[in-house]
Formats: sequence, C-alpha cells, structure tokens
Amino acid sequence: MKMKNFQTFIAAVALVLVLGVFTSCQQAGGNQTGSEFIPDMTHSVAYEANVLTKYSLNTWDEESVKSRWELSQPGTPVSGTVPRGYAAIGSYDLTFASAEDAILKTAESMKKNEGRSVYAPNGHVPYFYPDTEEGRTEATEKIIYNPFPITDEGLAKGKELYTIYCAICHGDKGDGDGYIVSGPQSKYLAQPANFIDDQFVNSSNGRFYHAIMYGKNVMGPHADKLSFEERWDVIHYIRSLQAKAKKVKYDSEVNELNPDYGVPYAQIKEKLEAGHEEAMEAHSEGENHSDTQQEEGEGHH
Ligand code: HEC
Repeated sequence: MKMKNFQTFIAAVALVLVLGVFTSCQQAGGNQTGSEFIPDMTHSVAYEANVLTKYSLNTWDEESVKSRWELSQPGTPVSGTVPRGYAAIGSYDLTFASAEDAILKTAESMKKNEGRSVYAPNGHVPYFYPDTEEGRTEATEKIIYNPFPITDEGLAKGKELYTIYCAICHGDKGDGDGYIVSGPQSKYLAQPANFIDDQFVNSSNGRFYHAIMYGKNVMGPHADKLSFEERWDVIHYIRSLQAKAKKVKYDSEVNELNPDYGVPYAQIKEKLEAGHEEAMEAHSEGENHSDTQQEEGEGHH
C-alpha cells in the first residue's frame, strides 16, 4: 500500500470509530445511566440464591431473556443442603404408622413452610439407609408407604420421568424389556428388573425408593436426577403399570392393587383439606404472636 493511501485509510478508520463512539453511547448523568453498548457485560445475569433479582437488560434474543422465577431459584442445590419444608419431612426415616399417616404428616410438614418460600423445593432430603445389601433390606422392610397421594398430575409426571429415566432399560410397560435389551442391536448383558413380576408387585415401596437412590450393580443411582417428590411420582407410576398388567385400578380414585402402596387422592382429600385449614390457622396465629410491633402499632390508633 502506498503511503498516501495508507494515511487516507487510517483517517477513514478513525472517523468511523469516532462517529461510532458518539452515536452509540448516550451521555450518562443524574438518574440516566446512558445507553449500554454491551449490557450483559455491565450487568451480569447473576443467579442469586433465594433472591428475586430483576434483570431486564439482556434482551438480545428470546433465550437470553430470563424470567424473575428462573433467576430467583438456586439452579442446583448445594450438596448436603435440604430445601425448606423438607428438613423434617413427615418422618426422617420415611417410616409411618399407616398409608394415610404418611401423607398427612408429610403434607403437614410441607404446609408449615407454605407462604414462607416461593421456590420449588427440589433437592436433598436426608436418606439414612446405607448403600449396602443390608441397607436395601432395611429400606424394603421399613419404607412401606408413599408419602404423596395418587393424583392425576403425579401419575402424569411419573410417566414422563419414567419414560425419560427408566423405560430405556425397564421397558415402557415395566416388564424389563426396554430398548437397551430388546432393541435391534442390543448387546446389553444385564437383565433390568421386571416390575410386573410378583416379586416386585409384592415388594414394598422401599425397595423402589432405595434402587432410585443408589441403583444396583449396573444400574446407576438416580437420586440426582429426581427430586424427593419426583421419586415418589415415578414409584406411583410403576405401581400403575403393575396394576395395568394385573388388570386392576390404581389411580386418583381407586387403588385395587394394594392399599399400602398408595392412597388415592379422592379418598384422602377431605382430611388433607382439613389439615390444610388447621395449618393455615396455626400459621396466622403464630404471625400475630411474633409480630408484636404490628400489634403495638395498632394499639396506638
Ligand atoms: C441403564 C439401565 C437402567 C436404567 C436407566 C434404570 N435401571 Fe433399574 N435396573 C437396571 C438393572 C440392570 C437392574 C438389575 C440389577 C441387578 O439386580 O443386578 C435394575 C434394577 C432395578 C430395581 C430392582 C432393585 C432390587 O431391589 O432388586 C428397581 C426397583 C429399579 N431398577 C428401578 C429403576 C427406576 C425407578 C429407574 C428410573 C428412575 C431405573 N431403575 C433406571 C437397569 C436400569
């Protein structure tokens, strides 16, 4: 390039840059922050645990626009932490007096925290049975009842999760004939459990819960993939597959499979609603007692 041409080139580049700077940035001052050239560098998309942060500046495309809900919840729970409402869920070792007791106690312990937290509880609930054959036996003997009632939503969710996480091995029907064993090029040597087999139809819920927590031999653990409630949704769904194979009902209205495995929502609805009202009353009383400032304030009027 000749010297003259080069100088013209530099001048042109400089002009474009200067014009660019003047046209792209608005003057900041007072309450005006000015236009931001790259807003997501000035205001990072911060994931604040348990804080509702408002972030409306990053609007490049639909994917970058975060709702407040997405920003407010912790993405992945810190290992070893317990979400609110789940610390003393019904009973720490998941043992209960009866199928109804399991549901009412669990609902009660979750209701106490209703209103205090707006975050979807998803994460760690303590599990004390060890990853050994003795632990499996103990869990099978002690964890009998499902702490959530059989609901249509729960079964739908269970079906969705089962299809994602279990069906590839255990089969869509739960008969252990998943794609991995019966697919066209299958070389999978281990036989996934056949849930339709009497041994599993007759087994308590604990055997399933334990298998989800730790896996077994070639089956990996699924504790990190399913939340506490989701694990129980999947177990309800497996029960509904067993019921289908036995040609009996297992749904939100009737459970003809085994009354210990799950209480249909229709059967426990009234008790749950009564318990809910009690909890709300206790909650509002508690509020009045603790909020003395407000009481004093009202007394002055
Ligand atoms: C990669 C394949 C695979 C996936 C995915 C898988 N499993 Fe399994 N599962 C197996 C195999 C194989 C066995 C048999 C293990 C054995 O007995 O050695 C098994 C065994 C089991 C058992 C019986 C444990 C016992 O006490 O004998 C249960 C219950 C179970 N799985 C539940 C589930 C659930 C629920 C899911 C989904 C959340 C799931 N599995 C996902 C392969 C899988």
